Amino acid sequence: MSAPGDQPKFGRAHALVLRFTPSERAFHWLVAAAFFVMLITGLLMGKTGSFHDLMYATHLAAAGVLVAGGAVILLRGDRRALSQTRRDLSHLDALDREWLGRVPAAVFKHSPETPAGRFNAGQKLNFLLITLLLGALFVSGIGLLISGSHPYNAVFKAAHVAAAYTALALVVCHLYMALINPSTRPALRGMISGKVDAGWVRRYHTRKRAEEF
Ligand code: HEM
Repeated sequence: MSAPGDQPKFGRAHALVLRFTPSERAFHWLVAAAFFVMLITGLLMGKTGSFHDLMYATHLAAAGVLVAGGAVILLRGDRRALSQTRRDLSHLDALDREWLGRVPAAVFKHSPETPAGRFNAGQKLNFLLITLLLGALFVSGIGLLISGSHPYNAVFKAAHVAAAYTALALVVCHLYMALINPSTRPALRGMISGKVDAGWVRRYHTRKRAEEF
């Protein structure tokens, strides 16, 4: 993590490389939009009344759109790129473990990060945890739906609320990385237009130690 106010320099400017295909970006923004709608309607739902019913219906509809939209992207989209990204995000190796071990030094002493592949170990953990938490939200949500709401099944309710707040904490960290942290902020362009600065990829996402360049 570079020091606050430190503007990372990436060598020759504006050579852009593809980081995410339209299918990957569509999948990401579908998950992001559905997550925020489900979060807000879940927090505002309350107990009874017409506002509750509206929030409840929107909450379930967002879950439905996430599943149906995800299925459409997987069936009609670039399956090769989507499965390659899933593989890149779900495989942790020795260099990733070294990267994780160096996080405290990188955060508190601003010491150089261990080189990362296409995704660093922090992103891989984010992907794995978010996937698990979305799964827990669906299972506990369907459990609440089947067991009825008056009164709610305490176990499903506790699991649903715990998974929601844990995912929210992860997303807040994710937003800090995507929108504020100088060394990761250049990634945002990749999730919007698909392309990122080649120098940034070389500096942060190429499995070479600084001295090997
Ligand atoms: C406005 C909100 C959001 C912004 C600006 C944003 C931005 C980004 C960016 C820029 C990347 C690519 C990182 C890279 O190129 O290496 C990314 C990846 C990712 N995003 Fe988001 N995101 C948002 C919301 C969400 C939400 C709500 C979720 C999940 C519930 C999510 C889950 C992920 C995951 C799992 C990845 C891949 C791993 C990672 O980079 O952490 N994002 N996001």
